[in-house]
Amino acid sequence: MKEHLFILLLFGFSLIVLSVLFYFIYKSSLIDEHSSRELSQSKKKRFQFFFFLLVLLLIGLMVSIPKSPYFKYSKDIPAKIIHAAAMQYVFLLSSQSIDMNNLASEEIIVPQGKVVEFRVTSLDVTHGFGIYNNDNQLITQTQAMPGYVNRLRWKFDEPGEYQILCLEFCGTGHAFMRSTFTVK
Ligand code: CUA
Repeated sequence: MKEHLFILLLFGFSLIVLSVLFYFIYKSSLIDEHSSRELSQSKKKRFQFFFFLLVLLLIGLMVSIPKSPYFKYSKDIPAKIIHAAAMQYVFLLSSQSIDMNNLASEEIIVPQGKVVEFRVTSLDVTHGFGIYNNDNQLITQTQAMPGYVNRLRWKFDEPGEYQILCLEFCGTGHAFMRSTFTVK
């Protein structure tokens, strides 16, 4: 929560700095005295338009930023946690945390209709972690990044075989990088 507040304040501060900057740029661009009445009218309209845009942007930021980073199902307690480690060119899946000294993947069964959590990391370069349903539609995704664990929560309403595909070009085997799990 503290980080959210910090980000919000940072955005607010940047906004003020940018507004002041734009104000001075706008002021310095004004032609004084001899400018015709028509020209100043159109400038006034333009200023009003951009001011309106700025207000819209401000409202949008104020509403959306406190909700970031949009962690879905954040209030739920996941019924299952799946650990996923990406490496060139495979996803290791495990219901236990990934053991670096004994890298192995296991068959994962995900309970249907319950919130589950994927804890996704990478053991080498940055990979994508895209989950596709039976119809090959991308339903949710996150990034697999070395040194970070990204948490992805999802509720699978449909049973079946789901695929995990890499969404980040990570080397020559990128296109073949995939894993599967079952929802039932
Ligand atoms: Cu891993 Cu592309």
